[in-house]
Amino acid sequence: MNLKIALLAGDGIGPEVILQAKKALYAIGVVYDHEFVFEDAFVGAIAIEKTGNPLPEQTLNLCLNTDAVLFGAIGDPKYDNDPDSKVRPEQGLLKLRKELGLFANIRPIKPYDSLLDSSPLKRKIIEGADFIIFRELTGGVYFGEKKLNEAGTFASDLCEYSEEEISRITHLAFKSAQKRRKKVTLVDKANVLETSRLWRKVVKKVAEDYPEVILDFLFVDNAAMQIILNPKQFDVILTENLFGDILSDEASVITGSIGLLASASLGHTNALFEPIHGSYPQATGKNIANPIASILSAAMLLEHFGLHKEAKKVYEAVEKAIEDNAVTVDLKSDSKFGTNEVGDFIANFILNKDDLYFKIDNVKIGQSTIV
Ligand code: IPM
Ligand code: MN
Repeated sequence: MNLKIALLAGDGIGPEVILQAKKALYAIGVVYDHEFVFEDAFVGAIAIEKTGNPLPEQTLNLCLNTDAVLFGAIGDPKYDNDPDSKVRPEQGLLKLRKELGLFANIRPIKPYDSLLDSSPLKRKIIEGADFIIFRELTGGVYFGEKKLNEAGTFASDLCEYSEEEISRITHLAFKSAQKRRKKVTLVDKANVLETSRLWRKVVKKVAEDYPEVILDFLFVDNAAMQIILNPKQFDVILTENLFGDILSDEASVITGSIGLLASASLGHTNALFEPIHGSYPQATGKNIANPIASILSAAMLLEHFGLHKEAKKVYEAVEKAIEDNAVTVDLKSDSKFGTNEVGDFIANFILNKDDLYFKIDNVKIGQSTIV
């Protein structure tokens, strides 16, 4: 298969982790005879620096005319600590999601067996947890009208949803549940919010098309508690934009590190794949950021294009890295593996299993093996 992939490394650790995802995809291309053509473009703080715009025209055009986008991370403390800043890196990602129509963000949560003791949560709570969060991505309070009065003393963010915005992601969530354990949990705040009551109404209606799937409801405050109290109860969690943002960071605790969680952002015609973590500025340039979330995002990209055995190979490579402790310091505090070495290990596994141990030895003495 020929695929044109836009690489939007973004800010902070973005370029470092994206490079590892690129290596993994490159290795898959070699082994399975696919041609992946990569094109880099700026987004976020780096794009503001270069062009004044967090999503330059050129970047948007590239993304609109490519098969898929692989996204690194976005954000810079310079802007976080300046609430008066008119232009912000995050606007680049939000505009990109909107312009590409990426209304569904899919975030799988499943701990690895060998990491069950890395989570601050007890093994007996998280063992066997396996769920997917379907987060609505182009609506809600993120995109509603924003106001700030002239005196800077009053602000508002409007939360809006239409029936159509709710039903299109709901169909995707139910289709996913059909292939899984056949349960959708709608997370909302229907005891307070009008938008949540519309979600309940629309989701109940869509559910009639999927009679074999059980639908239940949880208020978001309770869901936040249930996710860490009894995560095994969930199969597919369906929720609006802001709740999904918050709950998915919380859910990452189940897996032991936010550096492991990948996501796919899908629309009717475009697809973007991104780790759920942020730009982790403190780690920038130190070769310590966990590249696995990025690499798994690349695996989700492969799956999206029906390259299932290729995706499986990447999952196997990641499992092997975790089992062999070829991981960054967030997972093993005395690890000698940096971002680059984990990326090499995974790419080497994909390229040639037999060579792996020889190359691990190289890594131990501080040599990088490929690229
Ligand atoms: C995420 C991020 C983004 C979001 C930020 C960077 C705008 O936290 O993808 O979860 O809030 O959606
Ligand atoms: Mn987030």
